Parts: sequence; structure tokens; C-alpha cells
Amino acid sequence: MTETDYKALSELAQDIAREAGQLALDYKAKGLTQVDTKSSEVDMVTEADKACEKLIVERLTAARPEDGLKGEEGADKPSTSGITWHIDPIDGTTNYLYGLPFAPSLGAAIGDEPVAGAIYAPFSDEMFDAYKGGGSRLNGETIRVNEIDRLDLALVSSGLYYDADVRTKQAQQLVNVVAHIRDLRRGGAASLDLCSVAAGRTDAYYEIGINSWDIAAGMLIAAEAGATIKTSFEANWNKGTQMIVAAPGIADALSELVGDPPELN
Ligand code: IPD
Repeated sequence: MTETDYKALSELAQDIAREAGQLALDYKAKGLTQVDTKSSEVDMVTEADKACEKLIVERLTAARPEDGLKGEEGADKPSTSGITWHIDPIDGTTNYLYGLPFAPSLGAAIGDEPVAGAIYAPFSDEMFDAYKGGGSRLNGETIRVNEIDRLDLALVSSGLYYDADVRTKQAQQLVNVVAHIRDLRRGGAASLDLCSVAAGRTDAYYEIGINSWDIAAGMLIAAEAGATIKTSFEANWNKGTQMIVAAPGIADALSELVGDPPELN
């Protein structure tokens, strides 16, 4: 595939992410946010999550019937084209319910390598996109990571898993980190955390227990904006994966500070 092909994938992802974001807003405006739970009582899924994934799957299938699909709400189709879409219809479901930033996230990958993606934040009307070799953009304008080489001056974000035992281990890891950075943010949507690193709104992000649909688009957007990604995802996009994404000048130091991922089970 050429850069032009990747760009076309990114444009498709942007159109569909915008449409899904609008649908999520419509559901919210109508109060159609009935909640079910998934892995635990605090891991929620709404009617809107399901409707947005359905819309995304329909649009992708119509445009690119041979592509594979992997969605947070269950979409699972093998690829015959070599491309698989990793889809989070509403990344930040808890945020969505509380009126905080959320985003549909669509990342196209060849094997484990993301090649195009889009993340759309409807409340702020912000479209982030990237394609392999083509840089990253926010509403069409090029974005870059910050230039920083002191971890003690870095603003770092992270996330927490839905399971209480895992969270406890993440918190123990955090205790070690917070003493050595400027400050910590917990945004509530991994995709947007990655976009924030890309746009220089934070300097780094790390999280353990992250799924491919949370990060496929965001890791490309961060990488194309100049971020260093310390974790390898080769055949390892699963709940045990620890991801460190940082401005290059602080990536080694943050990686050393965060250390090895704790055992999750
Ligand atoms: C979650 C969010 C959160 C992150 C979790 C994700 P969801 O995705 O991205 O910030 O900490 O690991 O599972 O469930 O809201 O789509």
C-alpha cells in the first residue's frame, strides 16, 4: 500500500468517526443512555456504545468489505485484505455518561502496525488523524509533541483498569511515578490521552491493561507527531500490555521509572 492509500483510510476513518460522534451526542441529547455492565459493575456500556459500533461497522463494511474488524462491543471479523480496523465506538464511556470528553476511535492496522486512524472528540469538535508517513493533524493542522528532556518537569497522564485488584497494582506503580514528575492527569479516554501527547497538551502517557481498540489510532497519531513508543505491540495487543508514549527526551527516563508491568492475574 502507498501513502495515498493510507491517507484514504484516514479520510474514511475521519468521516465515520465524525458520524459516530454525532450519533453519540444525539443519544445523549435524547437521554438514551441506559447502562449495562461488562467486566465489573463500574465497566459500563450504553445503548449509544452499541449503536455507534453498529454504525461504524456498517459504514466500514460498505466501504471496505474485505477488511477485518475488531470492536470493543463485539465486532469481530477476520481480514482478507490485510487491513483490520480496531474500533472503540465510545472511548471513555464513563466520561460520556458524566458529560466529560469521549471519542470514537478508529484505527486501521496491517498485522500489529497501525497505518491510519482518526479520533473525534464531539464535545470540543476536535478531529485528530494520522496516516503512516503522513504526520498527525488536529482539525487539519499539523501537531507535534513537546520538546522536553526533564522528567521532573513533565506532565504525564495515565489510566486505570476496571478491576479493583488491577487498579490497586496500578496505584502502587503510580506512587513511584508521581514523586518524579511535574503532575499527573487521568483523562478517562486512552485515545484522547494519546492525542494529548501528540498535540503537546501533555508530555507523556502510560497505562497497563489496554486493548487494541483503545490505542490503535492513538498510538499512530502520537508516533506520527514525534512521540517515542516504548512498548512493543508485536502480537501482544491484549490486557497485559503496558504502553509508554512520551516526548523523545523523557521516554527512557519514564520507562525506567514506570518499570516492568505488574502481573495482572
Ligand atoms: C477505557 C478508557 C480509560 C482507560 C481504560 C479503557 P472505555 O476505555 O480509555 O481511559 O483507562 O483502560 O478501557 O472502556 O471507556 O472505552
